[in-house]
Amino acid sequence: MQLNALSFVQPTPTSAWGTYLSQVDRVMPYLGKLQRWSETLKRPKRALIVDVPIELDNGTIAHFEGYRVQHNLSRGPGKGGVRFHPDVTLEEVMALSAWMTVKCAAVNLPYGGAKGGIRVDPKKLSMNELEKMTRRYTSEIGLIIGPQQDIPAPDVNTNSQIMAWMMDTYSMNTGATATGVVTGKPIHLGGSLGRVKATGRGVFVTGREAARRIGLDLRGARVAVQGFGNVGSIAAELFAEAGAKVVAVQDHTGTVFNGDGFDVAKLMEAGRREGVVSLAGAERIDNEAFWDVECDILIPAALEGQVTAERARKTKAKLVLEGANGPTVPEADDILAERGVLVVPDVICNAGGVTVSYFEWVQDFSSFFWTEDEINQRLDQIMVNALNHIWDTADQHKISLRTATFTVSCERILAARQERGLYP
Ligand SMILES: NC(=O)c1ccc[n+]([C@@H]2O[C@H](COP(=O)([O-])OP(=O)(O)OC[C@H]3O[C@@H](n4cnc5c(N)ncnc54)[C@H](O)[C@@H]3O)[C@@H](O)[C@H]2O)c1
Repeated sequence: MQLNALSFVQPTPTSAWGTYLSQVDRVMPYLGKLQRWSETLKRPKRALIVDVPIELDNGTIAHFEGYRVQHNLSRGPGKGGVRFHPDVTLEEVMALSAWMTVKCAAVNLPYGGAKGGIRVDPKKLSMNELEKMTRRYTSEIGLIIGPQQDIPAPDVNTNSQIMAWMMDTYSMNTGATATGVVTGKPIHLGGSLGRVKATGRGVFVTGREAARRIGLDLRGARVAVQGFGNVGSIAAELFAEAGAKVVAVQDHTGTVFNGDGFDVAKLMEAGRREGVVSLAGAERIDNEAFWDVECDILIPAALEGQVTAERARKTKAKLVLEGANGPTVPEADDILAERGVLVVPDVICNAGGVTVSYFEWVQDFSSFFWTEDEINQRLDQIMVNALNHIWDTADQHKISLRTATFTVSCERILAARQERGLYP
């Protein structure tokens, strides 16, 4: 069916949603008879836009735009993070929710895909204002979230404290403590050991496996990381532990370089304090120079659309590990493939976070908590098995790992859609 130009599912040029739609188009030839159901992948099931008004500390009233999108619920309740960022739009949240659908299916978790966000720069809010905004937003989206409906988690600029406020607000509104309504909570509120590091650990595990398959020795391998928050810094820490050298790091404050490899613990401390450029004695380089730095592994772990065609042409990396969601635009994907650069796509590479979120949700329901070793072992096993299956699919059809991940996932999603049948 032709999409109407005014429809909200029509992508704006170069948007993340447009990137997602073109990724879906590439999977069509491999879906066989399930193709009949494929339109379902191109339309979010449900999108809620809410006004979030709060009284600021100075007495004025501020309004923020909030969203919660449930892209697909065929395989289970919605799952996906909440982002606080000034550039958040409905279209961005739609793309992020769709990638969650694909990601959860890639690692075979019993979830659909969802995502939320508020258009705000949280760095400009006091703690008091941040708490009020989080609580009001949670109350507004309370219509559609719940432990069996849709379970939010942290994403850019949200953390375990925000999840604690969300859990408390939902529990107050429903009249019973509902730890299972969000994941990424503090440990003593039903959080899981290993959750904070899980996404970065998943990036490392998939990176380790991919490096092994292409004969890249991690000992001495040079790693460049964009985004040094939860995902980027933990991935960097684990690669450094495995003997790699973290040579270039970029965050929102700028880019630093060290050909001998950074002391990652010190860089993390500086990153948390005032950004990576505050590391004493660090050599600062131009932000654009980050993209052609001498490196073997490139980890984009900040925001969407960072690996452009131009940057894909100049990267020296042999392996790109997508810690961020949607960091590579479709044209850049093709250029990387032509240049023989292997890309481990976001929908499997950063699935470690949602996998341990699933462990957290299961532990909350059973009120029985696992050790960190058990969690890390199970995470490793799930990620390696999923990647092996995706690799076999890529070999079988001679397609990229991204299209192979979409093939595995979309088959699972559309088979569930078909088996459930259309209501009514
Ligand atoms: N946290 C998770 O569990 C999780 C799971 C899956 C995917 N992701 C994805 O990983 C990415 C990072 O998430 P996070 O949780 O680490 O966020 P975070 O807020 O902890 O860190 C974000 C980092 O990106 C940097 N950054 C922001 N804008 C930048 C810019 N213009 N240029 C360079 N650096 C910039 C920030 O300085 C910060 O270091 C996002 O795409 C997110 O969707 C996160």
